[in-house]
Amino acid sequence: MSERTLVLVKPDGVARGLTGEVLGRIERKGLRIVALKMLLAPRDTAEQHYAEHEGKGFYPGLLDFITSGPLVAAVVEGERAIPAFRQLAGGTDPVEKAATGSIRGDLALETQLNIVHGSDAPESAVREIALWFPELV
Ligand code: TYD
Ligand code: MG
Repeated sequence: MSERTLVLVKPDGVARGLTGEVLGRIERKGLRIVALKMLLAPRDTAEQHYAEHEGKGFYPGLLDFITSGPLVAAVVEGERAIPAFRQLAGGTDPVEKAATGSIRGDLALETQLNIVHGSDAPESAVREIALWFPELV
């Protein structure tokens, strides 16, 4: 079942020169990049993107981080694209949860600096694609 997911290469990934690595893994998996842009996230976009985490201890730092430099946003399409990219990304904590072979497991050390975001469910993907790519909707 073909579906779409929203992927971010977060500011740490862009700053470390890992954009090509991430996009290459997406392409090698067989998923398609159907929209792509680099931008500095506006604060209100970041707040809406991470609204589910409002009130948590890491939320203010997360907003500061995600708005701290350019990020790359992509719409990725393919069979089971949402879980497929979550598997490519690995678990949230790059050391305790992300498997070796995943983006986070191979390339990250800290939870905040875990390189990528991927939508976690179909409703999240629809909401996040509309947020980052309003011109597509
Ligand atoms: P979350 O949605 O739980 O993880 P994921 O990105 O795997 O969907 O959290 C969003 C981001 O918030 C996460 O990628 C990194 C950051 N974060 C922290 O900095 N500390 C934490 O304890 C958690 C749970 C997340
Ligand atoms: Mg999440």
